[in-house]
Amino acid sequence: MLPLARGTTAPARHTRYHPGPGSLQSLVTGLGIAILTACLALPAAAISAEEDPRAAVSLPADVATAFLAEMRTHMANLDDVVAALAEEDFKTAASIAELQMTQGHHRWATMAENGASDEEIAAAKARFKAKRAARNGQMGAGSGQGKGMGGGSGGMGMGPGFGRYMPEGFRAMGDSFHEAAESFAATARSLANPAGREDYRSVLEGLQEVTSACRACHDAYRIEVSE
Ligand code: HEC
Repeated sequence: MLPLARGTTAPARHTRYHPGPGSLQSLVTGLGIAILTACLALPAAAISAEEDPRAAVSLPADVATAFLAEMRTHMANLDDVVAALAEEDFKTAASIAELQMTQGHHRWATMAENGASDEEIAAAKARFKAKRAARNGQMGAGSGQGKGMGGGSGGMGMGPGFGRYMPEGFRAMGDSFHEAAESFAATARSLANPAGREDYRSVLEGLQEVTSACRACHDAYRIEVSE
């Protein structure tokens, strides 16, 4: 993932390079430019609505607004996690991910705001997970009733969730995101200060699983407002 992301910033530098004609180098550079041009053409194509490869999810206007607001908090939380990691504050990074990004996060954040201890939240989480697993078991495969992404307008994760508006594949990607956050939090929580190189590597790998879940869903879906 990382080399790919870095590669996307390379074209500007490479296209300025003009070796003599006929050399192997010019062939390779020419090929490189052709591939880069092909890659660069993609985002331009995605701008036109008909060619947008993402599946549209239709939401009523108020739900769409709440959904996008939630997305912006995810961005803010991610920034807070990175800031905490930069300060070697692994406990804070873990707790942001646990309270704001895991399955049922509206409930955990509300509990924390109301003064619940880490142990109380962990116990509530365990009960919630067991219930969810039982419900999913009854329903066969799949991710339950779509109660994930709860509380768009009601807060607290108890109100009407976004999940019921979302297609199955979208909910599955939401689940992967929550699971990646859970496992990142466990890794971050397990680290002692001062952290070594390997610790940073493992915590970054964990975080990258979270960001790749953001990315996968953004590549696959877009929102449109239903009338
Ligand atoms: C399960 C799917 C899914 C996941 C996971 C997901 N997003 Fe999104 N996000 C979306 C969709 C769909 C949109 C709307 C995109 C569109 O309509 O063009 C969106 C939009 C956004 C926006 C734009 C909000 C606005 O006001 O327009 C931001 C910022 C964002 N997401 C950040 C994140 C971050 C950061 C993560 C991970 C930490 C994340 N998202 C995870 C589906 C997801």
